[in-house]
Amino acid sequence: MFEPSFKKGLLAVLVLCFLVQSVLVYTDHVDLELSAKAIEGRRLYHESACQVCHQLWGQGGFLGPDLTNAASRVDETRLVSLLTVGSGQMPALSFNPRQIDQMNAFLKEIDRRDIGGGELRMGDPSTGTNVQEAFESAIIDLVPPTGTAAGFETFRTGMCKSCHFPFQTSIVGAPDLSTTGERLSETELIEVLTSGRPEAGMPPPVPELSTGQIDDLISYFFWLNANRAELEGDTHARQEDRTVNWRSLPWWEYR
Ligand code: HEC
Ligand code: HEC
Repeated sequence: MFEPSFKKGLLAVLVLCFLVQSVLVYTDHVDLELSAKAIEGRRLYHESACQVCHQLWGQGGFLGPDLTNAASRVDETRLVSLLTVGSGQMPALSFNPRQIDQMNAFLKEIDRRDIGGGELRMGDPSTGTNVQEAFESAIIDLVPPTGTAAGFETFRTGMCKSCHFPFQTSIVGAPDLSTTGERLSETELIEVLTSGRPEAGMPPPVPELSTGQIDDLISYFFWLNANRAELEGDTHARQEDRTVNWRSLPWWEYR
């Protein structure tokens, strides 16, 4: 199915990921001091495979919620019930009172904002914004004129944004549409928005766009281009305090 050179490339990428991960783990100087009881809790966490369904600092499985700050949310009565009879898709684990106490200590001691919050890699859950959402709220705050706003709405609610990302070319090669106004004429834009460029990875829009929708999309792209600098600055400002400082995250849980 794949070319041999592609397989080699893929293998090289996987090996590189492994090396980067190993370096991060072994050069980790973030010291999260845990009490003896919490260390027992951490052992139970791994032995009971909690990480298959839960994340710590955003890493792990995604069936259940991130547990980095669970101690602030889950009281002890609920924890007892979770670790004995389970809840929803969380299985019954029949922890005894000593084990519950250890797990409780572990969850309490890792719940430290100065070390890092949960779900970091998915953005701060309290604001619920990722790059895309920051970009969209920047657009809304700039109050585009009516036709442009309708074009933005067509773009935002269609499949478009699964391939086109703000201010960058996405991995599938979909270009940054805020600079399209400099590259393409109106005629060329109509052509792309009608037939796509299937050979280059841009599918013909489904459902087909009406003439009115195409007009609005085009005015949106030109407006985007005219306001690019301001929108880009605003998008980054909204993202600013949400970047993850990788060095400050503890990697020890994988040791
Ligand atoms: C098979 C997947 C699975 C495993 C394994 C699992 N959980 Fe869960 N856990 C869940 C799901 C799903 C929920 C959400 C349950 C609900 O909302 O009713 C949950 C909820 C929780 C919550 C409440 C979190 C909150 O914010 O409300 C805690 C605490 C918790 N689990 C701890 C653990 C611990 C500790 C372990 C290991 C001993 C574990 N879980 C193992 C799936 C799992
Ligand atoms: C499956 C991914 C995908 C989807 C969905 C998609 N595009 Fe594209 N789009 C692309 C790719 C890839 C290109 C670059 C094609 C090329 O290199 O000629 C592109 C090119 C374009 C261009 C030309 C940009 C330029 O500067 O050359 C426009 C305009 C465009 N897309 C608009 C849209 C709109 C509007 C939608 C939603 C209705 C949409 N696209 C949905 C992948 C996608």
